[in-house]
Amino acid sequence: MKTARNVLGIVLVAAVVDISCADPAETATPRARPSIPYVATRSDTVQDMLWIANAGKDDILYDLGSGDGRIVIAAVSDSNVRRAVGIEIDPNRVAESRKNARKARVTKRIEFIEGDLFATDFSRASIVTLFLGRRQNIKLRPKMLRILKPGTRIVSHQFGMGEWEADKAFTVRTKYLGMYGEAWNPFALNKKVPDYNGNESHFGTSNKIMMWVVPPPIAGIWRGKVKTEQGLQNLKLTLHQRLSEVTGRFKLSGKTDMEGWVSAELWGNHTRLWCKPDKVPYGRFELRFDGHVHENTMKGTLAVVDRGKIQECEWKARRDTVDFTGMWEWPCASDPRLVQLLIERRDGRLFATYFDQGQETPVTDFYDWRGGFYFTLMIGREDNGSIRITEDTGWLIGEAILDDDVLKGRIEFYPLSENMSGEPDEGKASRPVIKDWTPRLVKP
Ligand SMILES: C[S@@+](CC[C@H](N)C(=O)[O-])C[C@H]1O[C@@H](n2cnc3c(N)ncnc32)[C@H](O)[C@@H]1O
Repeated sequence: MKTARNVLGIVLVAAVVDISCADPAETATPRARPSIPYVATRSDTVQDMLWIANAGKDDILYDLGSGDGRIVIAAVSDSNVRRAVGIEIDPNRVAESRKNARKARVTKRIEFIEGDLFATDFSRASIVTLFLGRRQNIKLRPKMLRILKPGTRIVSHQFGMGEWEADKAFTVRTKYLGMYGEAWNPFALNKKVPDYNGNESHFGTSNKIMMWVVPPPIAGIWRGKVKTEQGLQNLKLTLHQRLSEVTGRFKLSGKTDMEGWVSAELWGNHTRLWCKPDKVPYGRFELRFDGHVHENTMKGTLAVVDRGKIQECEWKARRDTVDFTGMWEWPCASDPRLVQLLIERRDGRLFATYFDQGQETPVTDFYDWRGGFYFTLMIGREDNGSIRITEDTGWLIGEAILDDDVLKGRIEFYPLSENMSGEPDEGKASRPVIKDWTPRLVKP
């Protein structure tokens, strides 16, 4: 694959090339190629995928781009899932899958839908399996996090989800690799952006299986009451969310005033929070929450640890309901001109558009966490995958919550590096910009 760079600083990148390296016996010659080619997952890897997801009798599995149906059929015949559905765009593959299901005598709990996985509903899934490609995974990511229930397992063969770190992953020895196709990727080593691919393995004789558990939308301001040695107090939790990563602050007020940081662990909607005050000696006071998030309610057990005494009680907090639709404006990273993010609600869903110097770009990788949001946007990548280099080319990543009608969060800009290694070099143009972000509402 060739990269040409001309004196005007415009880089042209060859379109994605897919090189199939799968076992030829398992891979029929592709006909008219859809954007994702047909390459079968090896049968032993199918078992690995079902194993990492812990697939069992209560599960509904969807294989998106189901090929000859092998994952769907194995899910029913080997893991005994309640139902398994394949979505496949190629009618010949669908016919082949139905034939394979009849041969395996598992037609009853199986369905093959001929259709486009990006346009088909799979919200009933408790397990989703993928063997698509990282770009396709990223394209699918916002839909998966919007429609799938918290706790749903997403398993991907070979390809990762960029900066969204897998909850479980393992490497297997294999004789043949699945497939490899990648346009020139200058951000391959940057763990903060969706182009990161350091968690995948495409060469040699190993292959990766990764699993993510769908997190609940937890960002925002949560309020509850806490009984401490001093009496009943108000607790405010401010939680920020980037996919499965949650960080935050807490504030206790009333009989005493105390604040500090919150660390969090999510496993589906099972949530653990740990509140530690800033200025109190280690171990003197802390709050530990273990419970679940459902809509705008957090419920579970709260342990108050106060000078060695631990008091546990049932606990509940409510999230502030907020509306962050509108046009938000802030000074852009590379010069002081103003740029905007428009957040709109259409058909009950939020959509975002980025505006810069009269140009508008839809922000397709956008996540509505109810109390806040997260988005990523690659500025300068054309629809055909080529990258146009200007000083504004790079990944823009934002995260914020709405607190008292003010958006508060962080904005990051990772410019295209001059040395193109994906690691920032010493040149000014390629240094990442990471800032606290309080954009101004200019139009409600
Ligand atoms: C790499 S193969 C994986 C097949 C199967 N999941 C497996 O692991 O053996 C990807 C499959 O996705 C199908 N596909 C590509 N684009 C699709 C789309 N937009 N909607 C549904 N299926 C698609 C292809 O026809 C191909 O069969």
